[in-house]
Amino acid sequence: MPPIEVRKNIYWVGVVDWNIRDFHGYSTEKGSSYNNFLIMDDKVALFDTVKKPFRSEMFHNIRRVIDPSKIDYLIVNHVEMDHSGLVPEVIDAVNPERVFCSAKGKEALIEHFHRTDWPYEVVESGREISLGKRTVQFLETRMLHWPDSMFSYIKEDRLLISSDAFGQHWATTERFDDEVDEPELFRHAAKYFANILLPYSSLIQQLISNVTDMGLEIDMIACDHGLMWRKNPGKIIEAYDTWSRQQPKRKALIIYDTMWQSTETMARAIEDGLMQEGVSVKMMNLKFNHRSDVLAELLDAKAVIVGSPTLNNGMMPTVSDILTYIKGLRPKNKIGAAFGSYGWSGESVKLITKALEDMKIEVIDSGIKVKYVPDHEALHPCVDLGRKIGAAVNESVSG
Ligand code: FEO
Repeated sequence: MPPIEVRKNIYWVGVVDWNIRDFHGYSTEKGSSYNNFLIMDDKVALFDTVKKPFRSEMFHNIRRVIDPSKIDYLIVNHVEMDHSGLVPEVIDAVNPERVFCSAKGKEALIEHFHRTDWPYEVVESGREISLGKRTVQFLETRMLHWPDSMFSYIKEDRLLISSDAFGQHWATTERFDDEVDEPELFRHAAKYFANILLPYSSLIQQLISNVTDMGLEIDMIACDHGLMWRKNPGKIIEAYDTWSRQQPKRKALIIYDTMWQSTETMARAIEDGLMQEGVSVKMMNLKFNHRSDVLAELLDAKAVIVGSPTLNNGMMPTVSDILTYIKGLRPKNKIGAAFGSYGWSGESVKLITKALEDMKIEVIDSGIKVKYVPDHEALHPCVDLGRKIGAAVNESVSG
């Protein structure tokens, strides 16, 4: 894909990755892109690189704008290797005057590439450098996504190069928000937030407040993955504000696996009870729903009800997987409970309940076990559990 001029003399020189389907556990079923940017000014600056296998394509894109040896500055906003993978090759080809990064960025670059001889220049939040006609202001954004992360704000263009923040894993030939279907774009952005940035919600709240305090005026957000935001960049900032507040809707998620449909039958009875209370329900059988799609739904759900039959004195591997994954992403303001069928030992409900408690989900019922196959009578308590959780959802969620 050719370079795109996103602002006068500012070029996208990245690559679209149509084939990636797994991003360390996140299902990227629509691919992704690695966006990096070249500013042509008195000093020529390259902002980040791309994933290593795309070396030829990235250099080809840069060459279509300028001879790479004419680049003066390399700015490393983020050291994760989807953005820094080609830093050594760029430094070899460019021999830059300076490599700008945060203090944590310098540490991480040395720990990744073991080169202490590069011309590092550490920058802190608020530091400005001039490229000639343009000024770059740096803003450290620790843990968004790694300790080294920072934004680069181009004052004269009101352009925020935002690293991982505001991105989406979505491969397209279009590069801007106004060129694609907006609801689909926001679905990808929400899934990305839920699976990558959710644990850092309080930092995002702080960041939004800092950006407001600094009075940064933003006409365009150039993120490192997916589509860039130029139609109304305020809309994705508002969405981040909403998502990071973690104020759930009147919605419940039933996540389960099943062996012989007993646990699934229980799930449907719980769904029945929740619906009687007017709560929106998403049923997610883990055989058919990827963990990262579960998290996208969990983002605005109040209740998470987890079911597994007992297998070998434990729970189904898919259920164990999703509990580990949810725990790492540290959702807040959720209530939950466990359910499941069993044959003789029946440990799964107890184990799931403990896992929910460990991740600080408020368990509002000790859970329901059914031996072998539930009959009509055995399903009554499941419906009651749904109603109990539904009532609790209604009590805690207004509007
Ligand atoms: Fe897209 Fe944290 O790397």
